[in-house]
Amino acid sequence: MLRDRFSAPLDRAAAALSSSVVEDRALLGVDLWGSIVHAEMLGATGIIPKTSSRRIVAGLRTIARDAAAGRFELDPEHEDVHLNVETELTRRIGADGERLHTARSRNDQVATDLALVLRESLLGLEAASARVADSLLRAARGSEGRTVVDGWTHTQPAQRLYWGQILGTHALRFVRDAERFRRIRERIDSSPLGSGAIAGTSLPVDRRATARALGFARPTASSLDAVSDRDAGSDALYACSVALLHASSLAEEFVLGSLPGVDRVRLSDGFVTTSSLMPHKRNPDLAELVRAESGPAIGRLVSHLTVLKALPVGYQRDLQLGKPIVLEGVLRTRLALEVLARMAGEASYRVPPVVDAATGSVEVADALVRAGLPFRTAHRRVGAWLSQREGTADRAAPVRNDELHRAFPELPSEFLFPGAVEEPERRTSAGGSAWRSVRKLLAEVDGRRRIAERARLRETLRLMRLRRAAGIPERLFE
Ligand code: ARG
Repeated sequence: MLRDRFSAPLDRAAAALSSSVVEDRALLGVDLWGSIVHAEMLGATGIIPKTSSRRIVAGLRTIARDAAAGRFELDPEHEDVHLNVETELTRRIGADGERLHTARSRNDQVATDLALVLRESLLGLEAASARVADSLLRAARGSEGRTVVDGWTHTQPAQRLYWGQILGTHALRFVRDAERFRRIRERIDSSPLGSGAIAGTSLPVDRRATARALGFARPTASSLDAVSDRDAGSDALYACSVALLHASSLAEEFVLGSLPGVDRVRLSDGFVTTSSLMPHKRNPDLAELVRAESGPAIGRLVSHLTVLKALPVGYQRDLQLGKPIVLEGVLRTRLALEVLARMAGEASYRVPPVVDAATGSVEVADALVRAGLPFRTAHRRVGAWLSQREGTADRAAPVRNDELHRAFPELPSEFLFPGAVEEPERRTSAGGSAWRSVRKLLAEVDGRRRIAERARLRETLRLMRLRRAAGIPERLFE
């Protein structure tokens, strides 16, 4: 196809470089949808005869049905998904198939396909990040959430926290991710279809109608921008990188937490492996794999931006290289988040023995501040007292109040050194470690999760209805 004016077929190696059929498999459903909507518009505007339009649409629907049943493969012979569909259509319905490509170009087609497929992928990512948040919230709200463990700075015991605050904080990050994915999706609101190769068309297309049928708010404002804009792909890869950074942080919580001696997390059997050599091993491989995904994710963001760098405005073939990067990025991110959601939901969150009983030292300094001392003086004196104590007592041994009051006569007699489980309740500042604040945190995260989920569901149903109207089997989009 498209080579009649040349004296030779495309060079064999060149054809391999040129082909995008492997990654285009993911575009088949949206490509058919776009073509059906385009053909209906061509008929409705009288650009092609109504009978041709009807035959084209019927033919495209048979291809969609076969594709959904796994009976339609893309042929590398035909370069990309667009030429595959067109060639197959003409093979099935004959001459009318030759009218489908009226008033469009593969340039506006691929831009439309990417917008449609990204909208779908982002919905999936919204669902997956909300699911991770939900798993964490369930654990935070259960009895494990009320137990107390070390909060770490520098991966060292810092101040004691409710497990619920740690889990709720990870959940908050994933809710922010769901919100970020949603904002990016909602910005994909303009239809590139009808922009042609670069400059639009002299034929009387109805771009509003095709935009509406594909669920966009409007047609794009510039044909020139429409065929070259890949911002949504970059946005999505950025959001994937952030979500996977959050995932890597939670995965690290699991890797470190399940370290013998730390023992604050126990992963369920479904998410650990053993060694092929050492039968005693219980390895957190899946948490490690999730932790690793953020690396390639950041690489994909940089790769995508680099493909786009310094391209003239308008379609350039370089853009084809951005496509598999984006498609792989959303796929890997979704997979990692889905694994993490189940891993987090099935893990148990435990209370290891206290390793440092002095984490309440800040409470002593604060009590001295309340007694009128400058904080720096209090910090110095508590520090000196602790280093002296380290010579005599085990780090894990509870701090004795009689010793404390002897060292700090300024302390009011009712001041007691916080025990390991009492510590979080002392810090009552808003957003701090007291249960009152943690409960608020969990309520806020859950409220935002629900809002995100409702928005996602609404949009999912809206798109399903549009696809049903176009006669596209839903299975093509699963
Ligand atoms: N396969 C191309 C891509 O993925 C589609 C557009 C090709 N346009 C062209 N003029 N060769 O970007």
